[in-house]
Amino acid sequence: MNQSNYVVDPMISAKSIAARVESLAHEISDHFKDTEKLIVVGLLRGSFVFIADLVRELDLPVEVDFLETSSYGDGMESTREVRILKDLRGKIEGCDVLLVEDIVDTGHTLNHVVKLLESRNPARLKVCALLDKPSRREVDITATWTGFEIPDEFVVGYGIDYAQLNRNLDHIGKVRFLK
Ligand code: IMP
Ligand code: MG
Repeated sequence: MNQSNYVVDPMISAKSIAARVESLAHEISDHFKDTEKLIVVGLLRGSFVFIADLVRELDLPVEVDFLETSSYGDGMESTREVRILKDLRGKIEGCDVLLVEDIVDTGHTLNHVVKLLESRNPARLKVCALLDKPSRREVDITATWTGFEIPDEFVVGYGIDYAQLNRNLDHIGKVRFLK
């Protein structure tokens, strides 16, 4: 077993996340109540747990698609250069789309992806982010719906990783380095 030089301190419990996901899903279902179908686009990999829970609470006809970007590598600092590693399988022109993101940090990723999706002329495009770190923002962008605003801490769990680990934690915790 590898010795890691950090521990994860609990920040948001699995129970609080579940309650918030349920209320976000109600708001989203209400907003899109007249839709023919909603294409829910998950940004890989960090949103995979969130999107799985969210879509099961949506009372709408839903399709699921995924997009993968890369900006962090295995570090903690954004390179601010967003690359598309995997594009959508389906077309979104004329469709209602909900983009699902794990965290909005500097805002570069969301800004890039929103521009890309807007260029494909969806009928409506809205964004739901589980977490937001407003104090870190470099690009003026906010999600339509946000689960929790958090301080400038590096967090993991509920799909979110540090160097690919900790995605399987059922709650959100903050990384604390040991001296
Ligand atoms: P942005 O482009 O700086 O807004 O970064 C967004 C992406 O960086 C998110 O989708 C996350 O994958 C990653 N990220 C930002 N903050 C954290 C964090 O605290 N823990 C893990 N990943 C993070
Ligand atoms: Mg990540």
